[in-house]
Amino acid sequence: LSYFVEKDRRYVTDTLLNGLSRLEYRGYDSAGIAIDGDSETETVIVKQVGKVSALRAKVDSSELSWDKAYTVQTSISHTRWATHGQPSPINAHPHRSDNGNEFTIVHNGIITNYKELRTLLTNKGYSFESETDTEIVAKLIKYVFDSQRGQHISFTDLAKAVIKELEGAFAFLFKSVHFPGEIVAARRGSPLLIGIKAVDNLTADFVDVEEIANAVAASSINEDKNPAYAKRAQSRSFSRADGSNQPLEYFLASDPSAIIEHTRRVLYLEDDDMAHISNKGDLHIYRLRRDDGLSSIRSIKTLEMELAAIMKGNFPHFMLKEIYEQPESVVNTIRGRVDFNKHTVVLGGLRNYLASIRRCRRIVFTACGTSYNSCLATRAIFEELTEIPVSVELSSEFLDRKSPIFRDDVCVFVSQSGETADTILALRYCLERGALCVGITNTVGSSISRETHCGVHINAGPEIGVASTKAYTSQYLALVMMALQLGEDRISMTERRREIINGLRELPNLVKEVLAMDSNIKELSQTLYQQKSMLVLSRGFQSATCLEGALKIKELSYIHCEGIMAGELKHGPLALIDEHIPIIFVMTKDAHYPKVQSALQQVRARKGNPIVICNTDDTNIDDAVLKTIRIPHTVDCLQGILSIIPLQLLSYHMATLNGVDVDFPRNLAKSVTVE
Ligand code: G6P
Repeated sequence: LSYFVEKDRRYVTDTLLNGLSRLEYRGYDSAGIAIDGDSETETVIVKQVGKVSALRAKVDSSELSWDKAYTVQTSISHTRWATHGQPSPINAHPHRSDNGNEFTIVHNGIITNYKELRTLLTNKGYSFESETDTEIVAKLIKYVFDSQRGQHISFTDLAKAVIKELEGAFAFLFKSVHFPGEIVAARRGSPLLIGIKAVDNLTADFVDVEEIANAVAASSINEDKNPAYAKRAQSRSFSRADGSNQPLEYFLASDPSAIIEHTRRVLYLEDDDMAHISNKGDLHIYRLRRDDGLSSIRSIKTLEMELAAIMKGNFPHFMLKEIYEQPESVVNTIRGRVDFNKHTVVLGGLRNYLASIRRCRRIVFTACGTSYNSCLATRAIFEELTEIPVSVELSSEFLDRKSPIFRDDVCVFVSQSGETADTILALRYCLERGALCVGITNTVGSSISRETHCGVHINAGPEIGVASTKAYTSQYLALVMMALQLGEDRISMTERRREIINGLRELPNLVKEVLAMDSNIKELSQTLYQQKSMLVLSRGFQSATCLEGALKIKELSYIHCEGIMAGELKHGPLALIDEHIPIIFVMTKDAHYPKVQSALQQVRARKGNPIVICNTDDTNIDDAVLKTIRIPHTVDCLQGILSIIPLQLLSYHMATLNGVDVDFPRNLAKSVTVE
């Protein structure tokens, strides 16, 4: 969404559409915009199924007059990843209150009590055009507004009264013809930030000016008075530090990549924050729950990220660019944290919590998807270096089980985006139980990095491709570094730590060597891309490589692929083996090598004809007999960083051969901010 001053409609729609394109990786089954119409009491909505380019084409072919300009304009837009209802123009956002578009809203998240509210509103005579949970909110706000007519209710009070009735997670933007030039935003559980820009384009410093807003008394849907809202509401407003009256433009988005081309000055809304932008351009932040005692003061931060870093460069896809960025991203994760002479690791974000972490009785890693696999990949070295038992949990399963968590537990939440709903809910569950919570994320300012007690930013740079690649290798490294730091007081492990730290020094060059084999891997993909099903096998340090490799192949090539722990081969999967099924063995030199070798023999004895990912110097495997992908050798616990890369490349090439839109695989989203 944006709030504009003295701009024409072309500028407004282009800004919205460009912002949506940058957010497309979060969801892309349909998109829409709501902009000011030809009069103040009119809002125009345009929606389309498919990617933002389809919406752009529809907007361009509409009969809107492009030079229409207002002193102030407010516009909202959304790109959707369906939770309720099929992707269709009707189910796309913005949703509206009525045919006259009196209220329009966009929403991320899920309203869990939408069925009850839908029944209630249906009984009041409302009918619904979509199958979404969001539409009930658009109808509800009109219902409350109509029942308050003549009482001069403010836009914020109206939105508060509606939100009070909602259960679930949300980031909302509300626009209304009854409040021209105003925007209300609110969040609970889904990310939302506000970029602030001085319209004269000068580099302006902003100060926040505290002020006490008038008491607000909001009415609920039942028209009873809620004493919580009647308390004095503290709010915060922002203006130019130079005292000038130059107007400000605002850009609200769920992610900074959408707004970075306009401004670097942002403030992140916290859960239960409501922001209001008035038609004079003032921004106020209120707490939705006045009784929680939390401050509504949010500081303005300056974004460090470069726009170029979120663009594709010369690569055909973000995913390929991100795979190729790994020599740099691993350096960025390590940079400034490892002393290669003293063989020590210092992760500044954990410094004040090391003693408490070392005292804990166990460590629980919690994550989803690829992030979960990075936890599995490092569990063994974590236990070895720290001698603390580690369990690894899928956030969703962990929550379903209501696993017991205690004050002397350390819970580590690993998430590229820092916004995955299941992981955030698991974090809150552990916070409530008094555990020490550590975040490992790639997104500064994300919910997980803000809500945990301490943590590590993996510094891999923005990852846009839905299939995670460089974030995996950087999460892996961050977890190994965390284990090195936690275990630094164990004298018996000095040599082991030294070996790993030396391995870290070599790693960027070895990553480059693996990438140099891309053309061989591309060739190999030609022989595999039409297969229906594949297996990836290994054990020990490479088990996670199998799971992560299989996940990449599944999500990108749409080929069924299973990662199999070789120790389990004889307990079932062996039945799948014949001369037809494609099998990839990850068989690098470590303590488990002989066991993987014996699994390979078992497969060969059943006419299996595997491709083997092995070390460059492995003479046990004859390239004339088996197809091999040879990768450089490194320390056992870091080898998975190298062995995943051929599988990332393989899945990429198979996907392109299968005609998959690699950065946007069907049905998937980069950041899943719903449960
Ligand atoms: C989605 C993405 C995956 C990612 C997972 C966890 O499913 O498609 O690539 O691994 O979410 O995301 P997170 O941001 O928490 O690491």
